[in-house]
Formats: sequence, C-alpha cells, structure tokens
Amino acid sequence: MSNEGVNQGRRRFLTATTCAVGAVGAAGAVVPFVGSWFPSAKAKAAGAPVRINISRIEPGQMVVEEWRGQPVYIIRRTQEALDSLAKLTDKLRDPESEKSDQPSYVDPVNRASKPEYLIMVGLCTHLGCAPMYRPDVGATDLGGDEWLGGFFCPCHGSKFDLAGRVYQGVPAPLNLKVPPHNYESEHVVVIGIDEESGA
Ligand code: FES
Repeated sequence: MSNEGVNQGRRRFLTATTCAVGAVGAAGAVVPFVGSWFPSAKAKAAGAPVRINISRIEPGQMVVEEWRGQPVYIIRRTQEALDSLAKLTDKLRDPESEKSDQPSYVDPVNRASKPEYLIMVGLCTHLGCAPMYRPDVGATDLGGDEWLGGFFCPCHGSKFDLAGRVYQGVPAPLNLKVPPHNYESEHVVVIGIDEESGA
C-alpha cells in the first residue's frame, strides 16, 4: 500500500474514532475497533513489526492497530488522565505492575515510556475480549464519581484504568499487556521491536 493510501485510511479511521468517542456510550466505543479490524497484507506478515505515525492522534483519542493478529490500542492521554492514576492505587489489583506483562523500560505506574502515549494489547486478561475505551469521567454505568476514565470489558465486566491497570473485584487477573515498542522518531512508534526483544 502506498503512503498516501495509508494516510487516507488513517484519516478515515481517526474520524470514526473521534465520532464514536464523542457520541460516548458503550456501543459507540466498539465502532473504531470493528471498523479497523481488517488486517492489511503488511500486518498479516507473521510477526512483522508495525510502524505507526502517532502525530494525528488528538489528546484523549484512541486508535487501534493490529500487530501479530492482536488489536493494539494507542491512547494519547491528557494531563488530567495522567493525574488520575495516582488516585486509584487502593482500588487496583496490581497498581505497580509487579505481576503484569510489560517491558522493563515502561514506567510501572503509568505503563508507558512516553507518558502521553499509552500502548497496550487490547485483549482482556480474563478471557480475551476487547475492552472498550471509556474515557468519560463520572460515567454512571461504571461507578459515577468513582470512575476516572479507563477501559471496560463487556464480556464479564472487568475494569481497567487509563494505564490499563485492572481494578480489584473483577474477573481479569492482570493489567492489560504492554507490547514491545520503540520510538523511531518523535512521531513514529514501532510495535513489536525494542532493544530487549532484539527483534
Ligand atoms: S473477558 Fe474480559 S472480563 Fe471476561
């Protein structure tokens, strides 16, 4: 696919994501995932790293890419979202990611190497459903004032915060996985390759 084709596809996807999040609601949040779930020939290549230009992601927005047949969520977090993380420690199962799966170079609390961008495999650690992005602080169906934004798994109700850290009292045992990744430049991140993996 040409760069132009990729960019056009990305524009369409970003628009869909913005609309879905803007409309809020559980059903709307699923749209970007479904809409993007068409593996490109490149992504189908077994184990191929995926290069993503993150410069078009707006603050608060999530995009979904595919890597090794798995959805990868990329969320550009606002400062407010980052500030919310410290308020949740007592409600989380593994707040410092001691048992969870992430590369050693990501921060154990905000779970990123660049705090602004959260990159995770979008598969619930319970039975593998795709958690929905629910950044809507105060959502009444997710706990009202207690809800500071995060992810909700529609299959059995697991909740994760805006670092993919799992709440206590839900079926999912672990935080969402952070895949190996490497920033090639300020605006380009490569999923599936880093110094640790040597891939
Ligand atoms: S698969 Fe997510 S809660 Fe069961």
